[in-house]
Amino acid sequence: MKVTENEAQNKSLAEFELKKAKRISGVGEYIKRQIFPKVREKNAGGICLEIGCGHGHWLSSYAQSDSQNIFVGIDLISKRIRKAERKKDFSKLENLFFLKAEAGEFLQALPRDLPILSTFIMYSDPWPKKRHFKKRLIQNSFLNLLAEKSCKNSNLFFKTDHQGYFDWTTHLLKVSPHWTVGEEKWPHDAGSFFADLLETSLTCSAKLK
Ligand SMILES: C[S@@+](CC[C@H](N)C(=O)[O-])C[C@H]1O[C@@H](n2cnc3c(N)ncnc32)[C@H](O)[C@@H]1O
Repeated sequence: MKVTENEAQNKSLAEFELKKAKRISGVGEYIKRQIFPKVREKNAGGICLEIGCGHGHWLSSYAQSDSQNIFVGIDLISKRIRKAERKKDFSKLENLFFLKAEAGEFLQALPRDLPILSTFIMYSDPWPKKRHFKKRLIQNSFLNLLAEKSCKNSNLFFKTDHQGYFDWTTHLLKVSPHWTVGEEKWPHDAGSFFADLLETSLTCSAKLK
């Protein structure tokens, strides 16, 4: 029987969704087995999350300075996560986890009883061309999902070297029904791979209403 173009499209869409569901379920298992018991043990109340942690410089330094909180760094790129894990192992940091995950998928996998205490996003890709704005991480849908998974008064910290992306993010935060732009001080001062390469840095923070 000849497979129509429509049938082929439906099949590849179904395969894509199946793969995505498997990834989310894998992340959920990792959270349940590795992260959740540590949060319980430390009575930490939730996690501090860095989205797009790259090689993990900044988060490793933060986790080293604060042994009471549990830190989780996620990134899309396996090689970066492997480098970050080497830092964690070298410093024997038990309160730090790195995993390969896409931001939206990680948030979907995060159970309700494991809230986010604070979120950090540093030098996320600015996608400077207008036709690529839809690829930016910060979108209304992302801010809504992040709000759903964060605890009350949770802070979102954002840093970029790109004025357009900074304006975009502060605008979306200002009009968000969930977030209020604030003046919270950046809680940990240390370099990151990109911070050390770039000259400009624009920062903003927002609190969950
Ligand atoms: C420019 S790098 C910044 C890395 C690090 N924050 C730093 O300051 O050195 C942006 C990182 O975000 C990751 N990234 C981009 N989109 C992502 C997403 N949707 N979920 C998770 N990580 C993402 C990229 O793989 C990349 O490592």
